[in-house]
Amino acid sequence: MLKDEDRIFKNLYGFQDWGLKGAVARGAWDGTKKLMEHGPDWIIDQVKESGLRGRGGAGFPTGLKWSFMPKESDGRPHYLVINADESEPGTCKDREIMRHDPHLLIEGALLAAYAMRAHTAYIYIRGEFIFEREQLQRAIDQAYEAKLIGPGNIHGWDFDLYLHHGAGAYICGEETALLESLEGRKGQPRLKPPFPANVGLYGAPTTVNNVESIAVVPDILRRGAAWFAGLGRPNNTGTKLFSISGHVERPCNVEEEMGIPFRELVEKHCGGIRGGWDNLQAIIPGGSSVPCLPASVCADLPMDFDTLVKHKSGLGTAAVIVMDKSTDMIRAIARLAYFYKHESCGQCTPCREGTGWMWRVLTRMAEGRAEKREIDMLLDVSKQVEGHTICALGDAAAWPIQGLIRHFRHVIEARIDEYTARADKEGAVSSKMAEKAMEAAAQ
Ligand SMILES: Cc1cc2nc3c(=O)[nH]c(=O)nc-3n(C[C@H](O)[C@H](O)[C@H](O)COP(=O)(O)O)c2cc1C
Ligand code: SF4
Repeated sequence: MLKDEDRIFKNLYGFQDWGLKGAVARGAWDGTKKLMEHGPDWIIDQVKESGLRGRGGAGFPTGLKWSFMPKESDGRPHYLVINADESEPGTCKDREIMRHDPHLLIEGALLAAYAMRAHTAYIYIRGEFIFEREQLQRAIDQAYEAKLIGPGNIHGWDFDLYLHHGAGAYICGEETALLESLEGRKGQPRLKPPFPANVGLYGAPTTVNNVESIAVVPDILRRGAAWFAGLGRPNNTGTKLFSISGHVERPCNVEEEMGIPFRELVEKHCGGIRGGWDNLQAIIPGGSSVPCLPASVCADLPMDFDTLVKHKSGLGTAAVIVMDKSTDMIRAIARLAYFYKHESCGQCTPCREGTGWMWRVLTRMAEGRAEKREIDMLLDVSKQVEGHTICALGDAAAWPIQGLIRHFRHVIEARIDEYTARADKEGAVSSKMAEKAMEAAAQ
């Protein structure tokens, strides 16, 4: 279990003062100027050495991403954009940072912007987050008033931080759709290349990072890259916010060491599985976009990027959705398929047409009203969607279905058998009734 002194998010549950005073008492804004005096390249090197991987879902190394930004400006400004769209089903961690410990994010934004030679950063916040926006704006105002940020601030790097409220669309969490939306257009992903580090917001070099990725940076720099890298396992380092929902006794958000085994996570923080461990059916370990895993592989599974990929799933946003044996797995995945169909922006044919097709087939399969050969057809279509679209929403729609077929094909087949048997039986009954009716008519 993560030691208290290794915790970064000391006010995750909002028991203490969220504002500047409280944040400073917890160690925020401590020696920020000194950290900056080491220079932008030192900050990037520290973040690289810490092994921090992006917390927005893909797990891309953060320091490496920052190093893609040009070292010198060619006349265009540089931008940092913070992704606070948090719409991945099951994921509910960034909102806690914004409402309970917003200064971690603001200090992290200053340090990250400085490292990438950006004087301006935008936080793009999800449309539904009204309270979080107000709270975060209050914290930004405090930081301006205290001259921690803004023009002529005490840190010697002019820095403006703007909070932009989205309108509530899942696709606007995709980084290039987010940039489109921020520019005032419809939130539709851009073709890459060019990548945002070359042509991003307003055509200028831009880095997009998740809220948690930025909020952990001040602690990494203050406590040292080696401290962060010493937590977790090689290539899967640091602490991580897990959002555990579903059929556990006490769903919660918790900061833990990366790689904590699933059983420990659930026993220590969630009071166990509802109805006991034998009642566990499956988990979706990383938000709805990753393939589910059956109970047989879950218990001792280290919750980190590489292990979950080895098991053909992913850590994603570390939003762990737990499903006990009362869950109808086909219906559950069909519901997710509906979500992706609904959220597809419609630009690419495989995603626009495929998400709707897959949802319709799954809906029939949930009833059993399908043929067994359609299972492979569904798998095949999911593979034609995966990797053939502009953005990763296509993959996100395909993977849960692939996970279902990989681990629960027998459940789909049994459902089809049941439906067929019932239909046959009902068919027999009705033909008997027809016979009787004919007999009655004959008399
Ligand atoms: C459909 C879709 C939705 C996404 N939604 C989010 C989101 O809500 N928040 C987020 O941080 N990243 C989201 N991402 C990932 C971003 O595109 C991007 O990779 C991330 O913000 C990068 O931050 P990181 O490197 O710090 O992880 C989404 C990606 C896709 C394809
Ligand atoms: S994959 Fe889907 S959501 Fe992404 S750009 Fe294509 S149509 Fe839009």
